[in-house]
Amino acid sequence: QWQYSLRPKKFMEYIGQDKVKENLSIFVQAALSRGEALDHVLLYGPPGLGKTTLAAIIANELGVNFRVTSGPAIERAGDLAALLTNLGEKDVLFIDEIHRLSRNVEEVLYSAMEDFALDIIIGKGPSARSIRLDIAPFTLIGATTKAGALAAPLRDRFGVISRLEYYEPDALVHIIKRAAEILEIAIEDRGAIEIARRSRGTPRIANRLLKRVRDFAQITADGIITDDIADKALVMLEVDKMGLDHTDRMLLNAMIHKFAGGPVGLDTIAAAISEETDTIEDVYEPYLLQLGFINRTPRGRVATIAAYEHLNIPYPKD
Ligand code: ADE
Repeated sequence: QWQYSLRPKKFMEYIGQDKVKENLSIFVQAALSRGEALDHVLLYGPPGLGKTTLAAIIANELGVNFRVTSGPAIERAGDLAALLTNLGEKDVLFIDEIHRLSRNVEEVLYSAMEDFALDIIIGKGPSARSIRLDIAPFTLIGATTKAGALAAPLRDRFGVISRLEYYEPDALVHIIKRAAEILEIAIEDRGAIEIARRSRGTPRIANRLLKRVRDFAQITADGIITDDIADKALVMLEVDKMGLDHTDRMLLNAMIHKFAGGPVGLDTIAAAISEETDTIEDVYEPYLLQLGFINRTPRGRVATIAAYEHLNIPYPKD
């Protein structure tokens, strides 16, 4: 699968997130030299910035198996117990969306993380008893878009907590050129820069736009991605100069035209544009906050002057 081959497999190939990468690389080397399992790692930040990729790199550099699951996929404590008892010595278990684990499952995870032990209840009623089952030392890598949504006892059991940031344009250009080379896409530097500028600091979006712009270059031009072709393709895809898409603009327009620029509650905005509250909170809002197009206040979200200017809407004087 090409998606997979685009993913870097070593820290060396991973572009950007320099501080996080440097730190993780040192912790991995230290664990390796001591012959121990790496401490548990929590990766957090907006979607598409490479949390899963980094986790896979960590496992690869440790030379251990990489098991992938997600919070919602682990329905019962027994599911987690099955996963944990099947891990090999020092393996990495990756739990995506770890903030969505159920309470029961989370509780089993605590002793697993801390003592490499499972507390299992056998039987029912008065004859029920709890037994403790040892498991092999392992590394849990959790990923979440909202570290604040994690219960404190869970958060406290991670020895390493790293926050991924939106990528700088230069790093995105680098990532786009690397992907273009792997996918054998002809792209000029200025084409890569144009796509990078409009990718919301997010490699997943950059790689997706790269493929769509390639389609456009192949059918309407000579297949080479120039800045001009990139711009025309991105206009067709309704991705504007700042990388905002149709939904971003709908959100801002709703805030401005339906709610006088706010303050307006998240649920109200979500209902107004028929989007999931979670999607707005995890996907759209973080980038709009980063751009300074919206602010969070105790009474709800407000659109800033910058948002009005971007949409060419006069800012109300009072
Ligand atoms: N592809 C997606 N994200 C990447 C990254 N951070 N480095 C290299 N290639 C990538």
